[in-house]
Amino acid sequence: MDIAVIGTGYVGLVSGTCFADSGNDVTCVDIDEDKVAQLRDGQIPIYEPGLEPIFARSIREGRLRFTTEIQQAVGEADIVFLCLPTPPGGDGQADLSAVMSVAGQIGPLLEGYTVVVNKSTVPVGTGDRLEEAIAEKASSDRFAVVSNPEFLREGAAVEDFMKPERVVVGTDSDRAAETMTTLYEPFVRSGNPIITMDRRSAELTKYAANAMLATKITFMNEIANICERVGGNVDNIRRGIGTDSRIGKRFLFAGIGYGGSCFPKDVQAIHHTAGEHGYDFKIVDAVMSVNNSQKTSIVRKMERYYGTDDFSGKTFGMWGLSFKPETDDIREAPALYIAEELVGRGAKLLAYDPEAIGTFKEATSQVVLDNTTFVHNQQEALDDIDALVICTEWNEFRRPTVDRFQDHMKQPVIFDGRNLYNLERAAKAGITYISVGRPAVG
Ligand code: UGA
Repeated sequence: MDIAVIGTGYVGLVSGTCFADSGNDVTCVDIDEDKVAQLRDGQIPIYEPGLEPIFARSIREGRLRFTTEIQQAVGEADIVFLCLPTPPGGDGQADLSAVMSVAGQIGPLLEGYTVVVNKSTVPVGTGDRLEEAIAEKASSDRFAVVSNPEFLREGAAVEDFMKPERVVVGTDSDRAAETMTTLYEPFVRSGNPIITMDRRSAELTKYAANAMLATKITFMNEIANICERVGGNVDNIRRGIGTDSRIGKRFLFAGIGYGGSCFPKDVQAIHHTAGEHGYDFKIVDAVMSVNNSQKTSIVRKMERYYGTDDFSGKTFGMWGLSFKPETDDIREAPALYIAEELVGRGAKLLAYDPEAIGTFKEATSQVVLDNTTFVHNQQEALDDIDALVICTEWNEFRRPTVDRFQDHMKQPVIFDGRNLYNLERAAKAGITYISVGRPAVG
C-alpha cells in the first residue's frame, strides 16, 4: 500500500518506519526542512531501541522516504496518517491547531479513495471535525476519516508496534475498516484482535486506557504510602494482588509517580472533557493530585531523615533524570521536580543519566543548572556525596558494586524512588536505604 505519514515526531516516525518494514511504500512529510534533511541522511532525531536498523534498511530499500511536500505524498496515498502534535492547550484541553491545519490542506490533494487516519491523541469528536474540514474541499465519497489510537510505550515502541496486543480502529465505513484490517493483518498474526468500533469510542478508548493505567499506578503509590505508615511492604502486596488475574501483574510498581508526555496530559484531558460535558470525573482528579505530591515525596523523606528542610552544605547524587528508562524524554519527569526542591533547600547535586542529561539541561531552571554538576558515569555521581537519590530505574543501576557506595560516598545513604534493591542485601551491606512503601533499612 502507499502510505503518507504527516508529522515525523515520535509516533509518526515509529509508525512510518514499521509500516515500511512490513513492505508498504511510506512517505513521511514534515514542515521542518532541517529535520527532513537529517532523516534523509539516515539520522534519527529520537532515541528508540530497535528503530535504527529497520529505519536504515527501509530507506536503503526505497520503501521509506521523507519530504516537505505534502502534495505529492497525499495524492499518491491509499492511506494518510496524521501523526501531529497535540500539546496541552491553555484550557487543559489538547491544542488541535496542527491537526486541523493539515486537515484543511488535505481535501484538494486527495486523488482516488483515501483513508485519512488520525493517530494523535485527540478529544472525542475530533474525527467529526476532521471530516467536516476535509469535506469542504473533497466530496465525501472520496475519503473516510478513521481514529486509530496508538498504544506505544516510549522505549518499547517498535516492539509495541510490531506486536500490538490489540489494534483499535474507529470508523463507520466498512470500506475503510477493510483497508485498515489489510494494513494491520501482518502485525497481528499471533491472533491478537483488530477491534473495530465507532470513531468516538475509539477516541475515548485511548484516554480510558491511559487514565486507567495512571490510576493503577497511583493506587499502588497510595498503598505504598499506607505501608509506610502502618508497617508493610508494597512489594509483597503487589505480588499478593497481582496474581489475581482480574487485577493483573503489570503496572503495579509503586514509585515516585508517573511522568512523560502522555499520562499527565491525557489524564488532565479526560478530566476536562468530562467536565465540559457536565460530568465531574472525580477519580482522575484524585489521581492527578496524588501523583503531583508523589513526585516529590522522596524530598519529604529526606527532610524527615535529616530532621530539617535546610540542605545547605549537602551534596546529593542523582541517578536517573528521564521519566523512565530507555528514553531521553524528561517531560514531567519526577527528577525535574526533585532537583528543583533539593536545590531550593540549599543542596548541590551531582547528576547522571545514560541518555537524558542534554534534555534535562534544556528543561530545568537556571538555579538547578547553577547548583548541579552533570557527570558521565554512575560512579562519578557518588563522589563525596551525602546521599544518593535514585529517580529512574535504568538497568545499569540495578546491580551496582556495593563497595562503590561505601568507598565513594561520605555515608552510604540511598533514597530510592524506584525500589531497585533488595532490603536484606542493603542491610547486610551496611547501607541506609529508604525506598517507597517498604521498611527503611539501617
Ligand atoms: C504510555 C502508555 O503505556 C502507552 O500505552 C501509550 O501509548 C503512551 O503512554 C501514549 O499515550 O502515547 P509511556 O508514557 O511511554 O506510555 O510510558 P509508560 O511505560 O507507560 O510509563 C508511564 C509512567 O508510569 C512512567 O513515569 C513510569 O515510571 C510510570 N510507571 C509505570 C510506574 O510508576 N509504575 C508502573 O508500574 C508502571
